[in-house]
Amino acid sequence: MRELAVVVGTRPEIIKMAPVIRAAEGRFDLHLVHTGQHYDDEMSGAFFESLDLPTPDDNLEIGSGSQAEQTASGLVGVEAMLSEREPAAVLALGDTNAVLSTALAASKLSTKFGHVEAGLRSFDRTMPEEVNRVVADHVADFSFAPTAKAIEHLEDEGVTAGVYETGNTIVDACRDHAPMAAERSTVLEDLGVAGEDYVAATIHRASNTDDPERLREIVAVLDSASAPVILPAHPRTTNVLDEMGYEPSGSLRLVDPLDYLDFLQLLNHARVAVTDSGGIQEETSILEVPCLTVRPNTERPETVAAGVNELVEPDELEGRLETLLTDDAAREAMTGHPDLYGDGSAGEHIVDVLDAQT
Ligand code: UD1
Ligand code: UDP
Repeated sequence: MRELAVVVGTRPEIIKMAPVIRAAEGRFDLHLVHTGQHYDDEMSGAFFESLDLPTPDDNLEIGSGSQAEQTASGLVGVEAMLSEREPAAVLALGDTNAVLSTALAASKLSTKFGHVEAGLRSFDRTMPEEVNRVVADHVADFSFAPTAKAIEHLEDEGVTAGVYETGNTIVDACRDHAPMAAERSTVLEDLGVAGEDYVAATIHRASNTDDPERLREIVAVLDSASAPVILPAHPRTTNVLDEMGYEPSGSLRLVDPLDYLDFLQLLNHARVAVTDSGGIQEETSILEVPCLTVRPNTERPETVAAGVNELVEPDELEGRLETLLTDDAAREAMTGHPDLYGDGSAGEHIVDVLDAQT
């Protein structure tokens, strides 16, 4: 059987690559590599368990560090793996440093590289993720674009060969696991919000956490909300809040990162989500939960155009959040587009293409 190498490095890559890994089983020999960018059990190991994924064959243990350190360690490790194994193709997903390392290593060795979630653009080059995406898209042999908009972005940059519109694998992941979450997760009872109106929040983006004053403004709004706000905090955010000596005293509850089933259950029953996450902007559209994204731009413009996601600055957050917590019609108006990212067959579609083309 041909070998397919798959590289992941962080929480969202593990979640979104799971449907591809499942679809590839039995059709390719899989060689799964974890760069080790995320390493805490609650940011990494827990997802292999709850998504029932094979243990990675290699862990490059690149850990935390600067953009260059993470990219360079990943590059060296992925290059060594590709040189040794000579797979038919290698896949990476999204916009993290694992994607940049894999894209560069594969292109220099002329190994076929498939970029899953190709063509997303925030048009904000101050984000490390935007640089990673652009580079990956320009060296990919296969661009698995989730939407027509993503294909437009690729076309605008002259990337037209090997482009496939597949939908986003987050739909596969979310639809497969939401019923399982409903059955197995007790997170709502554990947090005392079952049957209540509450807000599900996450904040981790560098642009919101590197500036402690901006983060302070965001958490102050969440703490003053008129409903409980549950925020499973990314370690990056926890580190900054701890340094500031911040303790919420009102509605905000900071909890540890949740595993995927618990997080899906929390999101699925939330009245509103507040986030700066990429994946959560997609999941809220699928689960039909209104989303307020605390960013000046997004690489998920489909959600904004459909009216299910709004970009807000910290000083606009309070007003919009209170409206959505108190006005049923306003909340309802921000739902109703669960199919923006496809029908849940992206994983199969990607593996079909690789099967036919490698
Ligand atoms: C990375 C991605 C980002 C993605 C996010 C998903 C890049 C450039 N960024 O950002 O696109 O949205 O993952 O969550 O690749 N830390 C721990 N334990 C861990 C992991 C991280 O304590 O297991 C702490 C460390 O202090 C580290 C900080 O979090 O310095 C940031 O982690 P890092 O992986 O560098 O970036 P993310 O913000 O997670
Ligand atoms: N997520 C999770 N537990 C949490 C917070 C998020 O399982 O406590 C999942 C969420 O459902 C989504 C993914 O993590 O699928 C998003 O990851 P993150 O926000 O870290 O990264 P991004 O999508 O912004 O790159």
